[in-house]
Amino acid sequence: MGRKSVKSKEKKMKRKEESAKMAVSLEKVDKANKVPDPMDFVKPFRKFDRNGLSLTIEFKRIADMSEEEIEWAFDLTKKNMQTLYEESEWGWKDKDKREEMTEDKALYLIARDTNNKPVAFTHFRFDMEFDEEVLYCYEIQVIDDVRRKGIGKFIVQILELIAYQTEMVKVMLTTFKHNKVAQGFFKNTMKYVIDEISPEDPLFEEGYHYEILSKPIKQKPNKTGDASNAQSNKAVVEPMQTSPVKAS
Ligand SMILES: CC(C)(COP(=O)(O)OP(=O)(O)OC[C@H]1O[C@@H](n2cnc3c(N)ncnc32)[C@H](O)[C@@H]1OP(=O)(O)O)[C@@H](O)C(=O)NCCC(=O)NCCS
Repeated sequence: MGRKSVKSKEKKMKRKEESAKMAVSLEKVDKANKVPDPMDFVKPFRKFDRNGLSLTIEFKRIADMSEEEIEWAFDLTKKNMQTLYEESEWGWKDKDKREEMTEDKALYLIARDTNNKPVAFTHFRFDMEFDEEVLYCYEIQVIDDVRRKGIGKFIVQILELIAYQTEMVKVMLTTFKHNKVAQGFFKNTMKYVIDEISPEDPLFEEGYHYEILSKPIKQKPNKTGDASNAQSNKAVVEPMQTSPVKAS
């Protein structure tokens, strides 16, 4: 066989590096999923007292949610999203959405008013997206009565802070292009951009009805003081504040 070429050695090295990086990423996801209560990272954000609202925000794993809470979250999602789904090629299917919302990995933040009535929630997960560790926001839903009072922004900020603390590379989400409110909210207010994995529209056929948005999260400095991955060169979230920031 003779001696291996430098190129194949380089390739082998690269593969080794990639699998080592993958192992680190998987470990971070695993560790994040084991955090008993991610709201402990952001204690001052447990309360939202602003614009006439007085809410508390609580973390729950799907396994700890009551039937009543699950039904409430499902019904609100259906009310807010069914028409948007039906306007897409996906259509709306109760069974599929219910399954997605109750998978073992599903994590929730639920905002409640002073009467303990739930008014907003997010379903999120720590997961791998290709070779990156991410916090994926599956759902953010706010009831009509409390919209435009800053709770949506507050909840997304919490997700970004949790992503920072758990060393996720980015926060991601999927949104319909025809959901104009969500488009404006995420792109203009929260500064999310189209992710590199979002599908590109074909030239001569009808395009995709959804896109994948994301926001890179500043990485925690490692022991040598450097940011622990290449994201440090990008425009990143600076989620360092320890008290709630004012919704604009
Ligand atoms: C999108 C959603 C979560 C926003 O929640 P919210 O609590 O109303 O949002 P906020 O009050 O934090 O809004 C922050 C900013 O986003 C923008 N925004 C939010 N809703 C908007 C709307 N209906 N029209 C225009 N701008 C809007 C505004 O700039 C707003 O700031 P302002 O009120 O000071 O002008 C909420 O509208 C919702 O639940 N929609 C239905 C479900 C949905 O589409 N979810 C997203 C799926 S990807």
